[in-house]
Amino acid sequence: MRIRDILFQNGAVKRLDAINIIAFASHIGREEALANQHRELDGATAERAVRLIEERSRGKPLAYITQKKEFFSEELYVDERVLIPRPETELLVEEALGILGEGREKRQILDMGTGSGAIGVVVAKKTLREVLCVDISVEALSVARYNARRLNVLEKTRFLCSDLFDGLQKAAKFDVIMANLPYVAAEEWDGLMEDVKRFEPETALLGGKGGTEIYERFIDKLPGRLAGRGYVLCEVGGQKQAGLIGGGLRARGFSVVTRKDLSGIERVIIGKWTSSS
Ligand SMILES: C[S@@+](CC[C@H](N)C(=O)[O-])C[C@H]1O[C@@H](n2cnc3c(N)ncnc32)[C@H](O)[C@@H]1O
Repeated sequence: MRIRDILFQNGAVKRLDAINIIAFASHIGREEALANQHRELDGATAERAVRLIEERSRGKPLAYITQKKEFFSEELYVDERVLIPRPETELLVEEALGILGEGREKRQILDMGTGSGAIGVVVAKKTLREVLCVDISVEALSVARYNARRLNVLEKTRFLCSDLFDGLQKAAKFDVIMANLPYVAAEEWDGLMEDVKRFEPETALLGGKGGTEIYERFIDKLPGRLAGRGYVLCEVGGQKQAGLIGGGLRARGFSVVTRKDLSGIERVIIGKWTSSS
């Protein structure tokens, strides 16, 4: 079967997705698949491509099929054990890199809710500083560790399975804490895209009844976990959450700014710990 035959036979999946899947199944690049549509695929490869395209037509996200997602110009491995990194999370990484660029003294860095390692592993890669990556899911941590190995920053990263700060040493404090914790409210669940609900891990998305329960527990512990003049960066789901979490941080003595994503949604809260202790 030729590449073009598979493309013609498929009607349900976007052409670009189908090309990506064929390229993945044939172990070639997307451009090569696009440019060589008359190429004959061997039986096993063609069969695999057709089966994967069928999976896509049933809603499985492309990133889980091809087991990769580009994030901040790095290619990350992903599968159903982790949330697929979202483009809006790049804003948090950008802001964190800006803060880390201010001075070499910011050495203790934490990524809370690391998932695939999108934030922590990529920050370690870009800054060559050490990052502690924490997640409540052992399965997610093995994906994050695999990404650290792929990006050559295994020696710059550590991984810990913990419910927020519970598993950390009592005295551990950080200069920069980055967090993309679950923030979808239970009542918003039904409105999520089918692909997301059926395939992505619920524990990576659901933030309790109102969406901010996990963040509330998190910010409650922050004052004891940030070093003097440390920063926290949290990804949130819009104005209401930014108000709630930003308000919680202010009430604990942080100065707070928020950043909007490219769609104009309040997406990242940056809290600066004003205490010097
Ligand atoms: C929204 S995903 C973010 C994943 C990744 N950081 C990213 O930006 O793509 C949230 C992550 O937080 C983890 N998580 C959920 N509850 C947690 C908790 N109580 N303590 C630590 N991690 C938690 C989930 O397992 C999931 O990997």
